[in-house]
Formats: sequence, C-alpha cells, structure tokens
Amino acid sequence: MALLNKNTESEFAAERAFVKDYLDRVPQTCSQPDAKSKEYRDKIKKLLVERNAVLVAHYYTSPELQSLAEETGGMVADSLEMARFGTQSSAGTIVVAGVKFMGETAKILNPEKTILMPTLEATCSLDLGCPVDTFAQFCDENSDHEVVVYANTSAEVKARSDWVVTSAIALDVVDFLTSQGKAIIWAPDKHLGNYIQKQTGAEDMLIWDGACIVHEEFKTRALDDMRHLHPNAAVLAHPESPMAVLEQADMVGSTTQIIKAACERPEKMFIVATDAGIFYKMQQMAPDKELILAPTAGEGATCRSCANCPWMGMNSLANLYDSLLNSSHEVLVDAELCEKAMLPLQRMLDFRKNQA
Ligand code: 13P
Ligand code: SF4
Repeated sequence: MALLNKNTESEFAAERAFVKDYLDRVPQTCSQPDAKSKEYRDKIKKLLVERNAVLVAHYYTSPELQSLAEETGGMVADSLEMARFGTQSSAGTIVVAGVKFMGETAKILNPEKTILMPTLEATCSLDLGCPVDTFAQFCDENSDHEVVVYANTSAEVKARSDWVVTSAIALDVVDFLTSQGKAIIWAPDKHLGNYIQKQTGAEDMLIWDGACIVHEEFKTRALDDMRHLHPNAAVLAHPESPMAVLEQADMVGSTTQIIKAACERPEKMFIVATDAGIFYKMQQMAPDKELILAPTAGEGATCRSCANCPWMGMNSLANLYDSLLNSSHEVLVDAELCEKAMLPLQRMLDFRKNQA
C-alpha cells in the first residue's frame, strides 16, 4: 500500500510555497532574438572545438540548442542517456544544456572532467521539493527500506540513496527490488511513484510527496474531451503526469520512449503529455505523424508552465556562448559527495548495461 509521508505535510506545504515563489521570480522563458542566432551558433561551434568540449542537450531545451548539439557531434537525449553519454565521451569538457541535476549527475560520473552549464540557476521542482535534511531524517526513520531516488534530485539526496533511477529505468529497478522482497522508499515524484507501485504491485513502498510542476498541469477532463475529438489518436504520456492522465494513456514512458512510440506505433496521430520541447525531436524522427499537445488548461482553468519547463527554458544560445567563452557556470560537486553519489548512479548504469 502506498503511504505518503504525512509526518512532514506542513514542510511540503512550505516547499510548495517556496517553489511557487521561485517561479514567480525566475524568467519563464529565455526567448532568443533570432538576429544573433547564426553568429552565436558559429562562435559556439568554434569554441566547442577549441575547448575539446561536447554539448549534451535534453529534449526539453529549445530547438536551437538541440540542433546545435546534433550538428556538433554531441547528443540530444533523456536524462539516462545524457548520463551515459558523458561517461562514454572522450571530450575533456561536457556542456550540459538542461537543469541542475543533469549537470551534477555528469560531474558525479565524470569527476575528472570539466562540466559547464549555460546557467546554474535552472533547477527542478522535484529537486526543490526534496531537501536533504528532511529526506535523510525520513530515511533514518525507515532504515529497513531500500532508498530509490529519481535522478531529479540534488547530489546530497543521491548520496543518501541506494539507487538512483530515471524514468526510463525506474520501473525495471523497482520490479527487480520487489522481486527480491525489498521494502522501498521512493522519492521525490509521487505520480511516478504511484505509477510504479501500481505496475509492479510493490506492497511496501513509501512515496515522497513531490511533483513536477509541468506534468502536474495536464488536465484529465480536457484530455478526455480531446480523445473523443480525435478517436484514432494514441495518448503518449510521461509518468510524471497525474495518475488520472496516465490511466488514459496508450503508452507511458520516458522522453526517449515517447519518441520511440511515435516512430513505431501504427497510429498517425498522437496526443502527447510532456514538455512541448520534445516536439522538435519527435517531428524530426516521425515526420509523417501528427502531434498534438495534451491540454494543460481545462475550461476556465489557467496553466502556469503551459507544458514548458521554466527552468529548461533558461538555457539559451547567449548563456551557452558565455559559459564556453569564460568557462563560467562550472558545475562543482564536493569530491567526497561525488564518491558517495557515484555508487547509486553507477548501480543504475550497471543495471542498464546488464539489461542490454
Ligand atoms: P526523462 O528522464 O524522461 O528525460 O525526464 C526528465 C525530466 O525532467 C522529465 O520532466
Ligand atoms: Fe523538473 Fe518537471 Fe522541469 Fe522535468 S519538466 S526538469 S521534472 S520541473
């Protein structure tokens, strides 16, 4: 049975207020004036070569950044493949266009490399909603549980865990642990946790009360209306979406798995419940398919993120250029912390390797 950590309910309320306040202050997107784009792209390409650097971008970053990563021998990927790519690349500098936990993961797995980010301000509501002190106390109170944390967490939270997983592999890892009879602490995404619990039948799973502010806005009733409007379309959803949305989905998976489904499934039309940034790659990989964004605002409702992660949107050509030129926004993680956080991350990569 799922048990939310009700002990610290008031602390979650405080965290949510903090996230809301943060979102009110950060710029919602970095719209990039196109006049300078070509100039930036050329300069960045030159700097990447000069600095023996490689650009790795998440699917939720702008098309400009994704295409630049592709054109320069870097990679556009989900968070699992971003982590794997960093360990396999021979470049001395990895530039991570994404959010803070992705940069930190790259540093933890490659402590000898320089990790740069266009901005160090880009965080994630899941990371913000899981402060290490409260989390460590929760783990201590349930010390007979295996601690499985989502990659969208701080280096400190990772260091307190037994396993780090991403959405691409979470189900398989928890399934494996459950088959070993392990009791599990899952943090921080409650929607993904509830989904995993339902799929694996894990009986003893304590689920942290965190959520992604982007996926949480997909609206159940409006999605139902949309499905009736397009009865031949398949719904593809990221598991950070609420259960009532996932229950309407034909496929639930990580960003890479969503793109793969659009390519491989027979339907010609897809309703997609994840950040709109993914459409760049989806359209590229499945040009003959029609893609519709799942509704984020039902009748009379408003959306805050409107399927655009505000933190992913803080990455731009301008701050990427600045980071490379001045070696600024370097991701630094304390060496001892790196060592501790590397273990659960490496466990995930080894698990992934054994699956292949
Ligand atoms: P993926 O691991 O599927 O890329 O998801 C990362 C993320 O932040 C989704 O919101
Ligand atoms: Fe975090 Fe959600 Fe943004 Fe992903 S989309 S980085 S989970 S806030």
